[in-house]
Amino acid sequence: MCGIVGYTGQRQAAPILLDGLSKLEYRGYDSAGLAVRNRDGEIEIVKAKGRLAVLSEKTDGGRTLQGCCGIGHTRWATHGEPSENNAHPHCSDDGNVVGVHNGIIENYQELREKLQRNGYRFYSGTDTEVAVKLIDYYYKKYLGTPVDAINHAMVRIRGSYALAIMFKEYPGEVFAARKESPMILGVADGECYLASDVPAILKYTRNVYYIGNMEIGRLKDGKVTFYNLDGDEIEKELVEILWDAEAAEKAGYEHFMMKEIHEQPRAITDTLNSVLQDGALNLDGVGLTDEELKDISHICIVACGSAYHVGAVAQYVIEDLAKLPVRVELASEFRYRSLLLDPKELVVIISQSGETADSLAALREAKKRGASTLAVVNVVGSSIAREADHVFYTMAGPEIAVATTKAYSAQLIAVYCLAAQLGKVRGTITEEYYQELVREMTLLPEKVNKVLEEKGRLQWFAAKQANAKDVFFIGRGVDYAVSLEGSLKLKEISYIHSEAYAAGELKHGTISLIEDGTLVISVVTQSALFEKIVSNMVECKSRGAQLFGLTSYGNYSIEDTADFVTYVPKTDEHFAASLAVVPLQLLAYYVSLARGLDVDKPRNLAKSVTVE
Ligand code: AGP
Repeated sequence: MCGIVGYTGQRQAAPILLDGLSKLEYRGYDSAGLAVRNRDGEIEIVKAKGRLAVLSEKTDGGRTLQGCCGIGHTRWATHGEPSENNAHPHCSDDGNVVGVHNGIIENYQELREKLQRNGYRFYSGTDTEVAVKLIDYYYKKYLGTPVDAINHAMVRIRGSYALAIMFKEYPGEVFAARKESPMILGVADGECYLASDVPAILKYTRNVYYIGNMEIGRLKDGKVTFYNLDGDEIEKELVEILWDAEAAEKAGYEHFMMKEIHEQPRAITDTLNSVLQDGALNLDGVGLTDEELKDISHICIVACGSAYHVGAVAQYVIEDLAKLPVRVELASEFRYRSLLLDPKELVVIISQSGETADSLAALREAKKRGASTLAVVNVVGSSIAREADHVFYTMAGPEIAVATTKAYSAQLIAVYCLAAQLGKVRGTITEEYYQELVREMTLLPEKVNKVLEEKGRLQWFAAKQANAKDVFFIGRGVDYAVSLEGSLKLKEISYIHSEAYAAGELKHGTISLIEDGTLVISVVTQSALFEKIVSNMVECKSRGAQLFGLTSYGNYSIEDTADFVTYVPKTDEHFAASLAVVPLQLLAYYVSLARGLDVDKPRNLAKSVTVE
């Protein structure tokens, strides 16, 4: 996820572009750049690694760039490390086409090879440079207009994009093209604005167009002309934005956490698509060949917090699908243990930030012992990503709320892919079941959306728990792993004490804590364990517990035992965590809200724990 801006009008463009980018830094902040057409008609490009402030300093607040037409970008790296070279804007070698991009070009490798066969060279590792040069290629090949060139490129590109493009031969004009990634276009007093999100232009205009999928916009002289894929002009409605600036940054949600909960379907889709090719998983980009996967004897998953809880899910899923011994370790413990690693053990470090001190130290310990290491991280070029032997990048985009949601869900997809691929290459699952697993993963985003539709019921229930004292989460198998995450979510943002227990453990001590009214949240998605966990629920109920049952549609008998039930769609039970976690995220969110707490920035916590 990145932020893009564009401007054309009578004022100096650079300061306006920088101001817009400053409202989009939440979308990405590892590098930034501007391209402005100066008085001589030349397009000048300035880029900088790091936060936007570095670029602003480099251009003296934009004053060193003269010109009234330009585009800008603040980056969240997906392809290519954060660097000045990889920063946007990207341009064709002759400067004919310059562009910025938010999204993911899935077939950028094949397009890059096509362009190389046609004489193009590449200076960056980004998919964006490929898109810009593809537009240049079609512009020259068909000697047409920018709209023709962009149209041809849109037909060839697979993936998602919000593109802002300038052409050397079209001074004073900015062109926009969109598929999936957000973009709005604004107009006011002879000026045109383009941005990934409302906050970037709200200061200048509230009159915007929402450009649709596979549509092109031509911004010139305070007017936007729209075209469809056939190059025909289309009419669009001008809309007035009623949000205030802060609400706009959260896309109308009250908190980043709720916005990110709703971004989970996208995060799952983008992460899965990053390794999905023609209906099969391909981990070549991760660097793990099928031979290497076959050769693994053990897997050790090491992480902290929610990332550790992903590992807890992965243990059940990989063991069952790949028949491989899997252990999960807390990084803060792992790093000080006298480790016994098998020579063919794969150590998997899961980390959203890629900077967690304990996880980084664990990675180094594992490497010191000669283990092969795989990082599952959300930040390109982060320390853990750079030091691991192999990297599986999750595509959740920047996660702002301290309590992770979309990154957790993206990590789950990554470990499901690893499990399925291990099962396939080791022959522990049939090709048919492998295909079924892959297909079921593609259906998860829609099923998460269905869970989100039920959030009103959870808000109602959560409002009654604002004064809860001790909450218990119980589950078995994958449901126990989900309980761990549900309990952490509640603790970290509502400050209510809660614990997750393997349901079979209750009778070994914990059940003595159950009193009249104690809330017990029971996760029940694993059919083979259904009866067992229901009997655990009855044990708790007989001691006065208030029972919340979280199960899959169809398990309606649970209503005979539970006081409150919420359902999630059925899926392959290996993947149930991706659906069951959503009601628990929402429950934690609404309880925190009911307690009037700072949901996005809970006390004593940081988004990335880079110290021991
Ligand atoms: C989870 O909501 C917390 N933010 C925290 O437990 C987090 O998962 C943990 O600190 C690990 O962070 P990482 O994924 O960036 O390594």
